[in-house]
Amino acid sequence: MPADARGGESSATSNDPLIAEAVARLAAGELVAFPTETVYGLGADADNPAAVARIFARKGRPLDHPVIVHVAGADALSHWALEIPPAAHLLVQAFWPGPLTLILRRAPGVSDSVTGGQDTVGVRCPAHPLAQALLRACEQAGIHGLAAPSANRFGHVSPTTALHVRAEFGDDLLILDGGPAEVGIESTIIDLSGPEPRILRPGMITESQLVAVLGRALCNHSAPSQPRVSGSLAAHYAPRTPLEIVPPAGLTARLTDLLARKKRVVVLSRASAPEPQDAELLWLRMPSLPEDYARALYARLREADAAERDCVLVEALPTASGWEALQDRLGRAAVGSGRTGD
Ligand code: TXA
Ligand code: MG
Repeated sequence: MPADARGGESSATSNDPLIAEAVARLAAGELVAFPTETVYGLGADADNPAAVARIFARKGRPLDHPVIVHVAGADALSHWALEIPPAAHLLVQAFWPGPLTLILRRAPGVSDSVTGGQDTVGVRCPAHPLAQALLRACEQAGIHGLAAPSANRFGHVSPTTALHVRAEFGDDLLILDGGPAEVGIESTIIDLSGPEPRILRPGMITESQLVAVLGRALCNHSAPSQPRVSGSLAAHYAPRTPLEIVPPAGLTARLTDLLARKKRVVVLSRASAPEPQDAELLWLRMPSLPEDYARALYARLREADAAERDCVLVEALPTASGWEALQDRLGRAAVGSGRTGD
């Protein structure tokens, strides 16, 4: 069995030997990395606390951070959630399978290792065919859900390809390869455990889409006892190279200044590279639509890091609708960048 298991999205079924191998490992309490449409996940049987503990150890993640449980479909919700409020039914109908995580009051018996000791649980049904095949096969084997954070070391950029996961964790991890992630940034998280629905993490399913389905505005302020969301830490999703966000109108001046000071620079911009190009400059052209930008962003940040330059300049994003989640991720990448070790 090669450690990089090339599943091939379209051919994946629960009879696939790779899926069978993955399920056998998960049933034995081991970890398996798998693709989702957002980012790759590092999965374990969510009902096995020892297996979930392995995720935290492998990621270097603080133990009190909750993880999302991935399920094959809405039928599995009752195993994890104490109650399924009407808002959850509406959102499941509209967005599952897909990049939306629901925070619900947890059912009795859901492990503290999954919830971080909170009385809520995060549940998501991913749309990626290989994730679906894996989760269905798990269900048949009596595994009700996979706890899976993004398959990266704590604080690093999330992986959108199997190679990224390999770069984070080395050779001994079974990685199901489902190709590059379609969405490219992590799911939208909505908290339905309180009196009013509240977005905990923006994603490519936007607030206005959620409002349209729920027929009501969302609560915009943080509750006093806001649950811990590691993706909400200011410094997160961060490259190792210092990253600076620059308004489009100021990009040329900032770049000229850095190059004049012999700095080696990577630029991520939606515009094309200036001619002639300076040898100290690596210009990575970014897409102009938010969906395409999201698909490209994390791979580009890894590319920028791999180039080992002095800094990454990112052209500020439009404030228009559709860009909110990307604003959020880039802002966190800028705060957390340039550090080593986590
Ligand atoms: O798209 C995604 O959501 C990806 C893929 C793999 O599904 N997963 C992901 O997991 O981004 P992770 O662990 O990197 O981020 C999950 C976020 C964390 O910020 C965690 O704190 C939050 O979900 N979370 C999980 N359960 C929660 C809960 N009960 N209450 C509040 N936040 C929760
Ligand atoms: Mg993560």
